[in-house]
Amino acid sequence: MKSFYITTAIDYVNGLPHLGHAYEKVLTDVIARIRRMMGDDVYFLTGVDEHGQKVQQSAQKKGIPPQEFCDQTSAEFQAILPKLNITNNDFIRTTEERHKKVVRAILQQLFDKGEIYQAEYQGYYSTRQEQFLQNKDRNEDGTWPEIFGEVSEITESNYFFKLKNYQQWLIDFLTENENFIFPKFRQKQVLEFLKEPINDLCISRPKERLEWGIPFPFDENYVTYVWFDALVNYYSAVADKPGVWPPAYHVIGKDILVPPHAVYWLIMLKAAGIELPGGIIAHGWWSTNGDKMSKSTGNAVEPIAFVDQYGADAMRYFMMREMTVGQDSDFSDTQFQARYNSELANNLGNLVNRTLNMTNRFADAKIPTAGPDEEPETELKQLWASTQAEVTDLWTKFQFNTALERTMSFVTATNAYIEKRAPWKLGKSTEEADHVLLRTALATMAESLRLAATLLQPVTPGVTEKIYGVLGHTPGEVWSDELAWDGRLADRPVDKSLVLFPRIQAADKNSV
Ligand code: ME8
Ligand code: MG
Repeated sequence: MKSFYITTAIDYVNGLPHLGHAYEKVLTDVIARIRRMMGDDVYFLTGVDEHGQKVQQSAQKKGIPPQEFCDQTSAEFQAILPKLNITNNDFIRTTEERHKKVVRAILQQLFDKGEIYQAEYQGYYSTRQEQFLQNKDRNEDGTWPEIFGEVSEITESNYFFKLKNYQQWLIDFLTENENFIFPKFRQKQVLEFLKEPINDLCISRPKERLEWGIPFPFDENYVTYVWFDALVNYYSAVADKPGVWPPAYHVIGKDILVPPHAVYWLIMLKAAGIELPGGIIAHGWWSTNGDKMSKSTGNAVEPIAFVDQYGADAMRYFMMREMTVGQDSDFSDTQFQARYNSELANNLGNLVNRTLNMTNRFADAKIPTAGPDEEPETELKQLWASTQAEVTDLWTKFQFNTALERTMSFVTATNAYIEKRAPWKLGKSTEEADHVLLRTALATMAESLRLAATLLQPVTPGVTEKIYGVLGHTPGEVWSDELAWDGRLADRPVDKSLVLFPRIQAADKNSV
């Protein structure tokens, strides 16, 4: 089996999980599920980023020790995973011994190789971003951009990692591997960034200024800069699991591509002699009702409120349907409810209802065997052939929104097929020819429903399972075998009814 290792960013635990965190996990889960369905040996890692100034400050504000603070908030992040039906194999916390041990080993190795040196540093420092700034980071009027928060001038001795030495190597690497970063325009941005000389990276923080970090192995007066620590999680989590490394993809948000992942991380790996990942997927950002989502403005969508009200599948469906991977999107109650009602409750829900109702009414709750195909059946089968080929291809390009749109078009076409065949009329007829057509129509509806459910599986696994269940279908071991249109449902007993997505009534609006 081919190994497929995939990771999400690890979330800062200084706030609570929001829509952006939930989306990244769902996106990664969809890819992981697809690869498992295709037969790969998937290892899916997610986790939390627990060190650094922000966490230390948040703990101080609460008046509790940082570890206790981390234990509390990390539990909140961990709790959203089962709620969202995420199939991660591992969850890493950067305060775990297995992680700290590897960070220290890599620091020691790079120090021994001469990749890390000590130097006096004088300059501007942003506490909020935990980052040293240069004059070129200033606004045109000389002030500092708001994202940096309070900026102070400091002088201190620190340890630096020789990034500069690897700049040309990185340019060459990204030039040769032109599809390394998805979407492609982000790769261009990285190369653009690398046109300017990069500085060596300050990777230490004096203990008197920051205690909440991993102590340096070769100088106990320092702790590790939070990014140098956090990035290593991808490696430390699997350091003792043979055959997992390297990752196929790191899934991250666009804000942490340059420089952390595309520059620091790739160079760290190169310098440490560790094999590079296969690629990076950088997704866009969610806003809510047109506003940037942020902890401070309090407009962060709490994904779990939606999950609790509408179910994990509805939430997963919306996020994957609404956002083009790599682009930004907006989350609003109105848009959520519109898609929920029209695509899930009406379109898919209708197909489920009609299939179950009519099979119960006209075929003693048993899926009949289809008669010979006529034009409506042939057309629908042709649409299925192109839909399944297109959808599975769109998956390889991470175009999950379009994949869902195509899948739903097939459901729409099946509903139109039902209108055309009008089984409720055929059922009243006394002609034998009409009874053959009725059996064909019922079998075709059920088969289409099973097939649509198969393509929905990575995004709405719960829905797929329920639909299979009411059709009396047990899927086989090989997922791709499920894509073939055939008569496998003949004679299967169907359930009386299934309410997948109760319609959201206008009165429920704004209740989340
Ligand atoms: O950056 N929309 O953690 P984080 C979409 N600890 N994605 C969003 C988002 C939004 N509105 N807001 C955040 C960190 N994200 C570091 C990562 S990795 C070694 C260390 C995404 O909690 C963000 O882009 O600020 C990132 O990928 C993830 O959530 C965690 O963000
Ligand atoms: Mg962030």
